[in-house]
Amino acid sequence: MKLLKYVLVICFVFISAVGRADEGMWLPQLLAKLNESHMKSLGMKISASDIYSVNKGSLKDAIVSFGGFCTGEVISDKGLVLTNHHCGFGSIQDHSTLDHNYIRDGFWAKNHGEEIPNPGLFVTFIVRIEDVSNKVLAGVKDEMSENERQSQIDKNIAAIRKGVKKEDYQDSFIRGFFEGNQYFMFVTETYRDVRLVGAPPSAIGNFGKDTDNWIWPRHTGDFSMFRIYAGKDNKPAAYSPDNVPYVPKRSLAISMDGVKEGDFTMVFGFPGRTMEYLHSAAVDQTVRVNDPTKIAIRDKALAVIDGYMRKDEQIKIQYASKYAGISNAWKKWQGEVLGLTKTNAVAKKQAYEAEFQKRVNANGALKSKYGDLLQQLELAYKELEPLGLQRDYFNEVFSKIELFSISSQLNQAMNAQGKDNYETILKRTQDRLKGIYEEYNAEVDRKLFAALMEVFYQGLQDYKLPDSFTKLLKDAGGDFNKMAENIYAATTMDEEQKTLGALETDAKTRLEQHKTDVAANLFSDLLTYFSTTVSGQLNEAQDKINRLQRDYMRAQMEVFREKTFYPDANSTMRVTYGKAMSYEPRDAVKYEIYTYLDGVMEKYKPGDYEFDVPEKLRELYAKKDYGKYGANGKMPVCFIARNHTTGGNSGSPALDAYGNLIGLNFDRAWEGTMSDINYDPSICRNIMVDIRYILFIVDKYAGAGHLVKEMKLISKKK
Ligand code: ARG
Ligand code: ASP
Repeated sequence: MKLLKYVLVICFVFISAVGRADEGMWLPQLLAKLNESHMKSLGMKISASDIYSVNKGSLKDAIVSFGGFCTGEVISDKGLVLTNHHCGFGSIQDHSTLDHNYIRDGFWAKNHGEEIPNPGLFVTFIVRIEDVSNKVLAGVKDEMSENERQSQIDKNIAAIRKGVKKEDYQDSFIRGFFEGNQYFMFVTETYRDVRLVGAPPSAIGNFGKDTDNWIWPRHTGDFSMFRIYAGKDNKPAAYSPDNVPYVPKRSLAISMDGVKEGDFTMVFGFPGRTMEYLHSAAVDQTVRVNDPTKIAIRDKALAVIDGYMRKDEQIKIQYASKYAGISNAWKKWQGEVLGLTKTNAVAKKQAYEAEFQKRVNANGALKSKYGDLLQQLELAYKELEPLGLQRDYFNEVFSKIELFSISSQLNQAMNAQGKDNYETILKRTQDRLKGIYEEYNAEVDRKLFAALMEVFYQGLQDYKLPDSFTKLLKDAGGDFNKMAENIYAATTMDEEQKTLGALETDAKTRLEQHKTDVAANLFSDLLTYFSTTVSGQLNEAQDKINRLQRDYMRAQMEVFREKTFYPDANSTMRVTYGKAMSYEPRDAVKYEIYTYLDGVMEKYKPGDYEFDVPEKLRELYAKKDYGKYGANGKMPVCFIARNHTTGGNSGSPALDAYGNLIGLNFDRAWEGTMSDINYDPSICRNIMVDIRYILFIVDKYAGAGHLVKEMKLISKKK
């Protein structure tokens, strides 16, 4: 009896870890084999081949990787693409000035002629996906070092890509899955003429800003629209005024019906990175060391930037994107630490590891291969800890002080002097500097320098930092503000005219000056410090972990044969599915699946930086003028479901049981942001804008009903 109970407990633990509880980011080409029956049992009414097929048009033909960092979907036969406001934000910002402030006021092209090109922006379709594991791993041997292994793999990949059957306007890439135990090839089609069609004002598209970011209940209309342009033959073409709207193989139909509690939902997109199969020691390190370190550094950076953005409209435009980016991960990591702690993620991993070890020990063959694997992993993570900490300090601090980015650009031009490609590099340096200065304010940067160098110094006190650093600090009497003032007074890199301007008139002289620039020298000393005392060991430790994690991944699949594994996200196309489901974040609190426009008005604070509501929207609300987009006299705004998503899934379509578009994924709920490391169905929820709210804003608010006319709206209710 006791034994039976034990077995039942174990079964329960593992069935819930099996990915049957809405967990998983599945490969679209494997749905038929691995997921179709489960999806149908949850209510899906279409088949796996309607989602992914190479022989006929399928839903996958309407999904694009948007610029490589988000997802988008085609929603009309004229190549109209829907994605998030925060995904299109870079473009919206690029076209914004104090006079034409599209961030503040929104933008709507009245016709194709008004749609704005975005150099550098692209969308990529997936034509087909093939398993190429055997070919990629041919000639790879266990005894190879990580470097040898990688160069064999690179050689194989190059050969496979050379031989791939594809059209000449198509491309391909191959990526490792399950920590490099499997490889898939993706044949792709990339369109590079993508124009901005429309965006709501940020008071709608980013309503609630950073206070509401990662939070449910949510009321953000996080969407923007673009259009793909193609050559006259409908094939990819570089930007040209003669290009025409792209006619897609497939566009999504839009359901006007919404969902209710328990309904099937599915999210199709390009999730960036997850780490679901880590050793408990790695999770412990994230919670105890890495997340807190990065959070503390960003606390400082955000305080500085926020202070300036609130009092200066110009700085607000210039730093909006940077601020949102820094704040986004900062807040997510805080939710992650809370969630991992609350769900006892480390203890759960340890229980899983104990079961793993028990099964391994009970089987001679497994034992000889994997007997001490867990122990080795634990040791390797111990070695990594101090190195990872230094890496975090360097990455976090250096990426936020712009003077260092400027210096790094100048270094590249300086080092290219006398080489064949000098002119090209110089031009690239100038272009990049131009981009940096457009969003640069020397005073903000100087304050950032002071604040961040101080945390850097305090955090790394146990290490011997370069003499030039200590000397500059000593000269300033140990005062970081003074140190920053001295450095910014001495350098010319904080002045566009004396840097970019001088580079354009006389590059040689300007690059000569760079050699004696105090900030440039400090930067290069710090870099040298990092590369001589940290990177070598860090790479070694990381290589060791990569090898062990690869073994551990394979071992888990061999040991837990009853479990269906999904590969960690790696920016490749995935399908995730689960029910629309309310949840209980804490005692006595229940979160419903829908929010409504009423909630926007509850949060409304006139003139507020985050919670102001545009007058027109207030009027529509007062008159309940929702047109055909309302439901039961209310205007749905956002909803949640148990789809397993991550960064990169932003802009992904949320589809109903029939594969019709019901919403646009853009976020996750605070309590569940640890889903990247430990998905827990009780509190992990993805957040979507309801498609009816999007259409309401486009049509009723912005008066861009001509766009809705391009789309196919359907309702099963009538
Ligand atoms: N948290 C979401 C994601 O990770 C949305 C971020 C954009 N919104 C914002 N207020 N920063 O991308
Ligand atoms: N907001 C994220 C994105 O930009 C989505 C998420 O992390 O849930 O992809």
